[in-house]
Amino acid sequence: MTLRLIINGQAQEIALPDSRLTLLDLLRDHLQLTGAKKGCDRGQCGACTVLVNGRRVTGCLTLAATLEGAEVLTIEGLSSGADLHPMQQAFLDHDALQCGFCTPGQIMSAVALMAEGETGADPDRVREALSGNLCRCGAHPGIVAAVCSVLGEQG
Ligand code: FES
Ligand code: FES
Repeated sequence: MTLRLIINGQAQEIALPDSRLTLLDLLRDHLQLTGAKKGCDRGQCGACTVLVNGRRVTGCLTLAATLEGAEVLTIEGLSSGADLHPMQQAFLDHDALQCGFCTPGQIMSAVALMAEGETGADPDRVREALSGNLCRCGAHPGIVAAVCSVLGEQG
């Protein structure tokens, strides 16, 4: 089947090689967008988080074939030009990563929080809202601080 969708602002028409292809595999293996990571491949770690029509989804549990006409945003499409997205900059400022494997998913999830209207620097609320994104390096304190710093500016 042919799939038409918008990825990072660009219209794409893709001949799907397999109707069972996941969004994560489409991005990584066919479009060379390797920012979203494959951690567990079963919806448990959040490393594959991207936005579909403004909402965060796990790419490993989303069938690409269901996305006709959808708008997909990945970490590669987050910044404009040389300027980092405020959430990316906050992760740098707060040293919110170690190996970086979970970082694209953490950032996309945090960006979705902003789109969901979340405001205010409430660490407990941020921890709960990002509980689907695991960090095996234990960088959660920095991650929470980074997200709170951005949400605090909005609150
Ligand atoms: S790789 Fe998708 S949730 Fe872990
Ligand atoms: S920074 Fe290594 S898994 Fe999060």
